[in-house]
Amino acid sequence: MELHEDCERMLFSAEEIAAKVKEVARRLDEEYAGAMPVAVCILKGAAFFFCDLVRAMKTPVSVEFMRASSYRRAARSGLLQVDENLSFEPAGRDVLIIEDIADSGKTLQFLKAYLLSRGAKSVKTAVFLDKPSARTVPFLPDHRCFEAEEGFFVGYGMDYAERYRNLPYVAVLKREIYEG
Ligand code: IMP
Ligand code: MG
Repeated sequence: MELHEDCERMLFSAEEIAAKVKEVARRLDEEYAGAMPVAVCILKGAAFFFCDLVRAMKTPVSVEFMRASSYRRAARSGLLQVDENLSFEPAGRDVLIIEDIADSGKTLQFLKAYLLSRGAKSVKTAVFLDKPSARTVPFLPDHRCFEAEEGFFVGYGMDYAERYRNLPYVAVLKREIYEG
C-alpha cells in the first residue's frame, strides 16, 4: 500500500495490525472466559480497532459506544470532554473500554474511574497504541496491541484534525503537518 504524502513512514501495515488484533482478542477471550462483558468503544478514534477486535473475540459481548475527546491545539493534549449520557447501565457489569491511544493517560484514567463510580463490577482497558513515555497521570492499559515512543500517529481510526482516519495502516505524520 502506498504511503500517504503527509506521512513520514509506515509504522504498522494492515497485515501486521490484523495479526496483532487477533492475538489481543485471544488474550481477552482467556481473560473473560465464562463472562459476558460489555465492550465500550470510545468514539471516534477507536471505531476501527473496536470493530476488528470484538469480531475476533469468541466471548459473547454486548457493544456500546461513548464519546470522549480532548480539545487539542496542534498535537498537544488538551481539555478532556466526555459525554456522560450513557446508553447502557454499567452497574454490575464487567466493562471493557476499547480506545485507540493511551497518551497522557487522562482520558482512560477518567473513563475508568467514572464507570467504576457508576457501579461497574470491573473495568479493564484495551488500547491499540500505547505511548507510555507521554503519561502525565499514572495509567497502565490492561491490554495493548503496540507501543510507540515520540511522534504523532495517524490511520486505523487515528486522526489529525479529522483527517487520515481511514488509512488502513498506521503511519507517523510529518512534523510540518501538525506543527505548521
Ligand atoms: P490522553 O487523554 O492524552 O491519553 O489522550 C488520548 C487521546 O488523544 C486519544 O484517544 C487520541 O484521540 C488522542 N491522541 C493522542 N496521541 C495521538 C496520536 O499520536 N495520534 C492521534 N491521536 C492521538
Ligand atoms: Mg480518541
